[in-house]
Amino acid sequence: MQNQEKVQNCAVAVKSLLPGGFSPKIGLVLGTGMGALAESMTEANMIPYNRLPDFPPSTVASHAGRFRAGLLAGLPVLAQEGRCHLYEGRRPEEVVMGVRIMALLGVEILILTNAAGSLNPRFPAGGLMLIEDQINFSGHSALTGPNVEAWGPRFPDVSSLYDSALGACLERTALALGLRLEKGVYLCTHGPQFETRAETRAFRLLGADAVGMSTALEALAANHMGLRVVGISCLSNQNLPDCMAATSMDEVIAVAGRAAQNLSRLITSALPDLSKA
Ligand code: HPA
Repeated sequence: MQNQEKVQNCAVAVKSLLPGGFSPKIGLVLGTGMGALAESMTEANMIPYNRLPDFPPSTVASHAGRFRAGLLAGLPVLAQEGRCHLYEGRRPEEVVMGVRIMALLGVEILILTNAAGSLNPRFPAGGLMLIEDQINFSGHSALTGPNVEAWGPRFPDVSSLYDSALGACLERTALALGLRLEKGVYLCTHGPQFETRAETRAFRLLGADAVGMSTALEALAANHMGLRVVGISCLSNQNLPDCMAATSMDEVIAVAGRAAQNLSRLITSALPDLSKA
C-alpha cells in the first residue's frame, strides 16, 4: 500500500474515534518527558497508536504512544504523545505520519516540542529554547519519494520553516510569565548515540545551539502541507566539547521533565494568542 493511502486510512480512523464536531486547529507533538502538558488537557479522549492501521509504534519507554484529543486553555487541541524516530529503524515517512494525519484533519498550527542537548554555553540545562531554525543533519528528508501533489509542492521553500509571528507570540508570553526563553538553531541527528566531543564542536561551528534526534522531519512535513510551525526544545543537558560530561537517557528524561513544567505554563498561556497570531 502506498504511503498516501496509509496516512489517509489513519486519518479516517482517528476522525472516527474523535468526538463529533471536534475539529482542532492546533496540533501538538510532545517529546521525551513532556507528558505533564498532555495531562493538563481536559475532556480528553485517547487514541492509542495500536488502534490505527499501519501507524508506527513508539518503542521509547518514555513515550506514551497515543493521540490525545482534548481542550487546552479552552481550545481544542490534538496532541501526539510520543513519536517514533529514525533511530528506531523507522522510515522518514513513518516518522512524519502523525503530523500528516493532523494536517489532513484540519490542524493549521503545529507546536513541536523535544528534549535536546544545549550546545550553547549560555543556554543552561533545564531551560527552554524557541527553535528559530533548524539544521537537518539526520541524513534523511521527510519528503523523499513520489510527491503527493495534493499535500504540497515537490520542492518546498523552507526559508521560513518556523513561523516568526508564532515565535514572537511565545516570546511575549514568556516575558509576561517571567520565564527565560532562549532562541536558537536546532540540529537534528539520526541518533541513537549522543555526540562525541568532536561532533559537538562541529555542530556548534555549523551554527547550532541545540542538538536532538527528532523534530526536523516533522517540521519539514508540516511545512510541506502548509501548516504554520513553532518549536520549543527543553534543554536537558549541556553538550559542550571542552567540559563534556557523560549524558544518559535517564538524566535527559529527568531534566527535560522539570523543564517541561515551564513548557506547560508557556504553551497553555500562549495558546489563545497563538491561535490568533
Ligand atoms: N544529544 C542528542 N539528543 C539529545 C541530547 C543530546 O545531548 N539531549 C537530549 N536529546
